[in-house]
Amino acid sequence: MEPAKRQDIEIDLFMRALQQCHGYDFSEYAAASFKRRVQGLLDHFGLANVSQLTERVLHCDDLIPDIIARLSVPVSDMFRDPDVFARLRRDVLPVLASYPHINIWQAGCAHGEEVYSLAILLTEAGLYERTQIYATDISAHALDVAREGIYASRDLQQWAANYLQAGGQRTLSDYFHARYGHIKLDESLRRNVVFAAHNLAADAVFCEAQLILCRNVLIYFRPPLQRRAVALFRDSLVRGGYLCLGTKESLSFTGHAGAFTVVDGSSSLYRLADVDSSSV
Ligand SMILES: C[S@@+](CC[C@H](N)C(=O)[O-])C[C@H]1O[C@@H](n2cnc3c(N)ncnc32)[C@H](O)[C@@H]1O
Repeated sequence: MEPAKRQDIEIDLFMRALQQCHGYDFSEYAAASFKRRVQGLLDHFGLANVSQLTERVLHCDDLIPDIIARLSVPVSDMFRDPDVFARLRRDVLPVLASYPHINIWQAGCAHGEEVYSLAILLTEAGLYERTQIYATDISAHALDVAREGIYASRDLQQWAANYLQAGGQRTLSDYFHARYGHIKLDESLRRNVVFAAHNLAADAVFCEAQLILCRNVLIYFRPPLQRRAVALFRDSLVRGGYLCLGTKESLSFTGHAGAFTVVDGSSSLYRLADVDSSSV
């Protein structure tokens, strides 16, 4: 049998073991990037083939958080795509301001850089005190890092520039303490954030939100899983609520585009239409 064919079978068995033993379903993830991450796991554990990895999945429960962390791609930045944050500041926050209480769901929050960016945006708009942010991810390890709010300062210059480009009203350094090559975001930014495990491939709707951000997550999914995730977002949004995807993502092939209007295509910012037109 060709080695590539053998590896496809092994990856299939690995996914089944993860799903049946631990409830993580990766069968609808884009194959090429998933394979790369499986190869990364083999390198990390010094294993010769995927079958040896499957054995770990079957017999070593304590390795699962590390395996899930390495299968996910927790890459992010503060004020990543600053024009998107400028757009949220300008067009979305004034609408959110009309609600007495604001719920925001950030799905696929990775290490939390975007969560804190959003908290800063809301603070400067005078809205943070009446906002609850639900920040979720599939990876327990990523959520632990996000909760801590401590980051290496190597990207700080870029983050400070992003913050200003996003319309920041102060300087980014007003929101953290720097020490030993790291920064720690202010406690006040975390006060209204709940970090929680949520799997877009398996879990259900859990809140009613005025704004949902799910940026740079759908690119890792095949169309059926994209459809599932967007259906969750649609069902979680209040009427007229906003959905913000990654700049390389869109609703076009999800089957749910008709439920939303496009607010700004370049920011992948959408708004849930009236109930009548959203029954897709
Ligand atoms: C590239 S990061 C995106 C981070 C941030 N939203 C941004 O755009 O900078 C993708 C995140 O999606 C998470 N993820 C992948 N599959 C998921 C799923 N099924 N449910 C929830 N989160 C998932 C990964 O763990 C990872 O942290």
